Amino acid sequence: MGRCALVVGNWKMNGRISSSKDRAKAIVKGVESLQEQWPKHEELCEVVLCPPFTALTTVQAATKKSIVEIGGQNMAIEKAGAFTGEISGNMLNDVECRYVILGHSERRALFKEINTTIAKKTATAFKENLIPIVCVGETLEERQEGDTLHVVRGQIDAIIPHIPPEPEIQQKLVIAYEPVWAIGTGQQATPEQAEEVHRYIRETLAAYLGKEISEAIRILYGGSVKPDNAEGLFSNPNVDGGLIGGAALDAKTFLAIIEAALKTQKKD
Ligand code: PGA
Repeated sequence: MGRCALVVGNWKMNGRISSSKDRAKAIVKGVESLQEQWPKHEELCEVVLCPPFTALTTVQAATKKSIVEIGGQNMAIEKAGAFTGEISGNMLNDVECRYVILGHSERRALFKEINTTIAKKTATAFKENLIPIVCVGETLEERQEGDTLHVVRGQIDAIIPHIPPEPEIQQKLVIAYEPVWAIGTGQQATPEQAEEVHRYIRETLAAYLGKEISEAIRILYGGSVKPDNAEGLFSNPNVDGGLIGGAALDAKTFLAIIEAALKTQKKD
């Protein structure tokens, strides 16, 4: 069997505890009902919700009995101490997060996170037994200058030395290719544009970690994924699901994207 797809909802800084709880419950219910049409769908597609930190405990409780996992949207490099406003990997573990999004383009652009910051965070995530979802992607200017692959290469190169040597851990890494110009803009990459970069990411990973590991690593696409474009994007051989922002804020829309991932899960 091929790679299990992965659909991650990044709720960003939206909602209060009550709305997060309602949305999580609706998603859990929807995922359960998908089981009728897609028996053993948990083997075909993993689902992860990344709510704001204040709602993690509530969303954890709402998803506890289901296959839906939770993750943090960011994490500090350090373990503990005088880091006002930060959240540690240990704290994410405490609320039973399994995943953590690192290096999202909003963190890079608005909070000045650079490749070395994200590389150190990747190391911390692995130490804390969290699965890092490392975001990479070019700006519009970089794409127009023909720099896309070069930029993405630099972002991948930075994290490689921070990945533990054990193959069973290496293959847990998740990369999310998110062209910055496509995030929240309604302008998504075409399936061909996405596949070109995804293939390049897999080849880069293969050069560093070996073909077998690179074939096991999930590479997600993110940037204006919606139910009407998800199937086209996820049908690509190197696109293993999505990191969903705006469309993850509505349970029905998010469930339709999960269904698109299930429909396209035919790789081997
Ligand atoms: P979007 O966001 O789906 O709203 O474009 C994606 C993301 O930021 O991860």
